[in-house]
Amino acid sequence: MSDNKRTQDDARDEPPIISGDVLLVTFSSSGIQVPWLGNHESLLELAEANGLSPDFSCRAGVCNTCECSISSGDVSYLDEPLSMPEDGRALICCSIPDGDITLDL
Ligand code: FES
Repeated sequence: MSDNKRTQDDARDEPPIISGDVLLVTFSSSGIQVPWLGNHESLLELAEANGLSPDFSCRAGVCNTCECSISSGDVSYLDEPLSMPEDGRALICCSIPDGDITLDL
């Protein structure tokens, strides 16, 4: 039992393994490109984890404060937002990348 715990703890400390299939998220205005490893709940969280400070309020797809332009690619919504943004725009608080994506952040 203690061997299993040590293995889980060790795995948590190791850096993530990036495979050739990983999605890339580019924040074009900031010149930042990072892999999407699925360890953030949304694109907003990924941006914040990389030192960006996008506008937000509800973080639940209700207020559209986090809306930003998509230069290329698309997103998938975790839950359908209250008001879906126009094509070419995304609510980053409640979405994840659907393939490589470039956001105007
Ligand atoms: S912060 Fe309110 S919709 Fe994203």
